[in-house]
Amino acid sequence: MQDPEIREATASEPLSLDEEYNMQRSWRTDADKLTFIVCLPWSGQSSSAEDRILEKEADAEDRMIGDVNLFLRQEEEDDDNGDYGDHAEGNGEKNSKIIGEVELMIAEKQHQRHGYGRAALLTFLRYIALHRREIAADFLHREVSSDDNADNGRDIDCLSVKIGQTNHRSLALFESTGFVKVSDTPNYFGEFELRLEKFERGHIEELCEKYRITTYEEIQYR
Ligand SMILES: CC(C)(COP(=O)(O)OP(=O)(O)OC[C@H]1O[C@@H](n2cnc3c(N)ncnc32)[C@H](O)[C@@H]1OP(=O)(O)O)[C@@H](O)C(=O)NCCC(=O)NCCS
Repeated sequence: MQDPEIREATASEPLSLDEEYNMQRSWRTDADKLTFIVCLPWSGQSSSAEDRILEKEADAEDRMIGDVNLFLRQEEEDDDNGDYGDHAEGNGEKNSKIIGEVELMIAEKQHQRHGYGRAALLTFLRYIALHRREIAADFLHREVSSDDNADNGRDIDCLSVKIGQTNHRSLALFESTGFVKVSDTPNYFGEFELRLEKFERGHIEELCEKYRITTYEEIQYR
């Protein structure tokens, strides 16, 4: 994050080391945030998935190449001109949508353009599609209903990403996964917002097949 180009592409501010640690802590603990570190592919010989984590090999420091994040917020329903406004949490939420804002970074140039960005994004979208109600419930500080048929749980309504208008590679990547620009003109900050309204599991799995991202395994954080 000391690279000005990366900071510009990710709309990030320079932080001190302490601020960086605080930021990392909040990404781990806050219910409105979800984050994964992207690591290089690994093909070690451990027998179980948990061993792999315990070995600290697959996720060793020199294998970390980026991150992928989700930030949840509530927005009021669409008004006449198509704009959404920020919504105060816990207040009139029936008329609001839960929006998940995605961020993605493959930090160093040597690791870019090898397919890791797309692999990280699709794997992340798959995780979200599989856990969307739990993520939404966590965000709203509610328990997930144990009755699958009870429709009293809120869900993530759509995913969004904001990308600088000159960041053509990122625009191309997100558009290739079904994100669509909400407007032909960039916003005040020179960014396009793109949204993925339908991120059904089937759609994500088809994309994973198409780009041959065929191994998916979840390991519990402990
Ligand atoms: C944008 C970024 C995430 C792409 O990750 P990556 O690993 O380099 O990209 P991939 O190799 O997975 O490529 C996926 C697609 O992105 C697009 N893309 C990536 N690099 C590109 C480039 N240099 N020129 C044009 N398109 C490019 C292409 O559509 C590509 O698909 P294709 O290979 O089928 O043509 C990465 O470059 C990055 O982190 N950049 C800095 C931070 C940033 O811009 N983040 C996005 C803000 S949300």
